[in-house]
Amino acid sequence: MDTLPRDWPEWLETVKTFSLSDFLAWALRTFSPDLAFSTSLGREDQLLLWHLDQTVATLGLSPKSLDIFTLDTGRLHPATYELWEANRSTFRLPVRGVYPEASAVETYVNTQGINGFYRSLESRKACCQVRKVEPLKRALKGKRAWITGRRADQAATRQKLPLLEWDSAFGLIKINPLAEWTQQQIEAEIAVHKIPVSVLHAQGYPSIGCAPCTRPIADGEEERAGRWWWENPEHKECGLHLAVEPKFRFQREKAHGPS
Ligand code: ADX
Ligand code: SF4
Repeated sequence: MDTLPRDWPEWLETVKTFSLSDFLAWALRTFSPDLAFSTSLGREDQLLLWHLDQTVATLGLSPKSLDIFTLDTGRLHPATYELWEANRSTFRLPVRGVYPEASAVETYVNTQGINGFYRSLESRKACCQVRKVEPLKRALKGKRAWITGRRADQAATRQKLPLLEWDSAFGLIKINPLAEWTQQQIEAEIAVHKIPVSVLHAQGYPSIGCAPCTRPIADGEEERAGRWWWENPEHKECGLHLAVEPKFRFQREKAHGPS
């Protein structure tokens, strides 16, 4: 889709009162099979995967009703690969791997160095571009909607995160079903359903990205403080999630989490 779909106002009205599972069921009914869900295998995404797995089964849909993928940058934590593998026996829905172009990685590493991203913001962004953003573009081609696990209270850069937004960069509707949830609500829901999560969370990583670019956080630090910790907070986005104009965002007047 190149322009805002005609149904946009109707969608905003429809989703106003939705719970999380209503919201995912609506996304599946409205956009399947042109619906994507990107997972970093962090706890928000594990919660969404669990709900999607249940919802697809409840609605009697095929596992091919949506495209679930992780961007394997080649620099993920070993624990992330272990959880990804374990998910194969936990969930019916598969998580597909999406990879960077080998020649682009070769050029980056051979010009900037294997850990060139520590040297400057430009070099860090170039690495994210090759290993994450280009593969994401490929993965989202032809999709009408994209589910993410972002939350508004994760960081200063996400404070205005809406439930629905029109992403003109990718030409699709971006769905953020957990936008209004807190970390505590996510943890509680994960405990209730006994959903497997990465061992990294218990080691002080609320946000897990690539291993060389993430460190555990200290008590009182912002959740994403461990991501690209050597950079200023306003730079802590990697290009997967670009700013959206306010008129293309939808937030509820009164936020509600799990209920
Ligand atoms: S990031 O932009 O800084 O990397 P973050 O780790 O907070 O993002 O994750 C936010 C959302 O972006 C996740 O819920 C997921 O939808 C998507 N995402 C982040 N990293 C990946 C990845 N490696 N593969 C697929 N999706 C990802
Ligand atoms: Fe490269 Fe670090 Fe970005 Fe991963 S997070 S793609 S290693 S710069």
